[in-house]
Amino acid sequence: MKTLITGGAGFIGSHLADLLVSRDYYVLAVDNLSLGTIENINHLTNHKKFKFIKEDLLHLDKLKDSFQENKFDAVFHLAANSDIAASATNPEIDLNNTFMTTWNTLECCRIFHVNKFVFASSSAVYGDTIRELTEETGPFLPVSYYGAGKLASEAFICAYSSMNNIQSWIVRFPNVVGERMTHGVIHDFIEKLKSNPKQLEILGDGNQKKPYVYVKDLVEAMFFIYQTSKERLNYYNVGVEDQTTVTEIAKIVCEEMQLGNVELKYTGGNAGWKGDVPHYEYDLNKINSLGWRAKYSSTEAVRLAVWSILSK
Ligand SMILES: NC(=O)c1ccc[n+]([C@@H]2O[C@H](COP(=O)([O-])OP(=O)(O)OC[C@H]3O[C@@H](n4cnc5c(N)ncnc54)[C@H](O)[C@@H]3O)[C@@H](O)[C@H]2O)c1
Repeated sequence: MKTLITGGAGFIGSHLADLLVSRDYYVLAVDNLSLGTIENINHLTNHKKFKFIKEDLLHLDKLKDSFQENKFDAVFHLAANSDIAASATNPEIDLNNTFMTTWNTLECCRIFHVNKFVFASSSAVYGDTIRELTEETGPFLPVSYYGAGKLASEAFICAYSSMNNIQSWIVRFPNVVGERMTHGVIHDFIEKLKSNPKQLEILGDGNQKKPYVYVKDLVEAMFFIYQTSKERLNYYNVGVEDQTTVTEIAKIVCEEMQLGNVELKYTGGNAGWKGDVPHYEYDLNKINSLGWRAKYSSTEAVRLAVWSILSK
């Protein structure tokens, strides 16, 4: 099996590459290294089943060349903007890197007859609601440009799937944590505490409560869904049963950094930033029925991620 991973030098993409080569798949990782790094894939560069190309997916002609040269059996599309703060003031970032990268990759699948497409989607497609998030009922009302870029991508995947008989798997990730992560609340807290171990600024009121999944669990789930779910269009929430609050994360980070008496200073308000969804909870019946459950709970995943960053 010959696969393409877009965003393959990123946090999650590099873990997916590890998993696929370990299952004997050939992997071409394409990434423009805007957010990903060569360090994430250094350990794979001499692997006979792995190849990396530095390329921007927005250059459709170059992407076509890669599709022409490699007869891919399946595409795992993970490239996207992950710098939510940057796109909050410049929506074009998500239009390009979250949506257009999807459209260009789908176009290449259509032109070069690649009929398996796996997509890294997000809880952000649902928007801000107190309802448990189910695959069928949504609501699909994103509150961030990023969420809009993901939902628009899902809509095009749906249409390309139907128009071109491309079998597709849309996998809606929750917050993902673990080795090689480069952004997010855990990363930010560790950085802040390294520069000031006495005080930690927390965006919002600290009660934001979300599910965090360990990255190795997540890529296992993605691969499991791809192998097990056989519809033309497959769409799943992936997650964990529990959620962790931002204050709980702050306490775990302080504990693991062995810092006592840190003053937690809240900026206030129920959301961390504009476009943040402060609480969400997934309905996981669909993926549980397919036969998958995460090994680690949300709070265990947070602790594993803290250890992995601190042990670097
Ligand atoms: N990390 C999370 O908590 C989370 C949650 C939900 C969904 N996701 C999705 O999972 C995927 C991977 O996210 P991640 O956390 O590993 O982020 P990441 O930034 O580490 O990975 C994304 C990769 O895409 C690359 N990229 C971006 N624009 C590109 C372009 N135009 N051309 C080529 N490469 C480009 C970046 O350089 C980066 O390596 C993304 O689609 C993201 O939206 C992540």
